Amino acid sequence: MAVVADAIEAELDRLLPVASGPQARLHEAMRYAVLGGGKRLRPMLVWTSAELFGVAPAAAIRAGAAVELLHAYSLIHDDLPSMDDAALRRGRPSCHLAFDEATAILAGDALQPLAYEALARPDYGVDAAQRCELVLGLTRAAGAAGMCGGQMIDLQAQRQTLSLDEITVLQGLKTGALIAFACDAGAILGRAGEVERAALAGYAHDLGLAFQIKDDFLDRFGDSAVTGKHGGRDQDVGKATFVGLLGEHGARVKLDELRSQASARLDIFGARSMVMRQLLDFVIDRQS
Ligand code: IPE
Ligand code: IPE
Ligand code: MG
Ligand code: MG
Ligand code: MG
Repeated sequence: MAVVADAIEAELDRLLPVASGPQARLHEAMRYAVLGGGKRLRPMLVWTSAELFGVAPAAAIRAGAAVELLHAYSLIHDDLPSMDDAALRRGRPSCHLAFDEATAILAGDALQPLAYEALARPDYGVDAAQRCELVLGLTRAAGAAGMCGGQMIDLQAQRQTLSLDEITVLQGLKTGALIAFACDAGAILGRAGEVERAALAGYAHDLGLAFQIKDDFLDRFGDSAVTGKHGGRDQDVGKATFVGLLGEHGARVKLDELRSQASARLDIFGARSMVMRQLLDFVIDRQS
């Protein structure tokens, strides 16, 4: 993960605008939100799925960086006072506190198209049809049928009691869609066959759900010094989560169920899927 993280860091640095000109403050806020923090899980998923299909490392790194730019935008907006009103992100003041609210909104607004640009640019050494498919996949994962749709339901979940099925839908959109795209990106780049692509999608679905359940678990039980975020927020605002509904033990049981289910989806890849299985353990056992 460290090797991939270094390559991603360098690619993000290249893609982000250097702070200059009258809009330098916007560039600084974009760089602040993206560089120097975060687990880089989504780029790691792109990398690992790409590796399954023998994709060139540089192609995987660019796609991973694009997903991370989109993710960073989603975090800036998620932390805004009108959304989660979160002061701490990746162990540092959230973007709107390090800068100001209007600058943070603009930084998010600018990171989103930068993500698409990174995939569409002709200097990305993959053919035009694949670039188009990647852009299409990322737009769908990010928009009303994906992350933004999930964030809408998530905000409403503060005032409603949701069933487990409804929370599953919410989390599948707000977090799962981008994680699913990260896994699919490797399959797109590697021109994977339908059966393998579907198996990977099944894995990504279970991993994405496990990822958000663990995020909610850490919000409740995690150590803020390790997570780099203030905890207890979900409970404070009365947000419906798996952890709230199932309790600590129930959430752990659900995570272990998802671990077995996701792992079984990888069986068709045999020994090639070892790193994907390790990522599953990483997501479920992490403390940050
Ligand atoms: C946090 O994502 C936001 C969610 C989707 C729950 P991560 O836990 O991947 O955050 P970073 O990128 O490591 O900071
Ligand atoms: C955010 O979920 C998911 C996004 C789309 C950014 P959370 O609100 O639970 O993420 P954290 O806990 O603030 O990182
Ligand atoms: Mg949120
Ligand atoms: Mg939040
Ligand atoms: Mg959370």
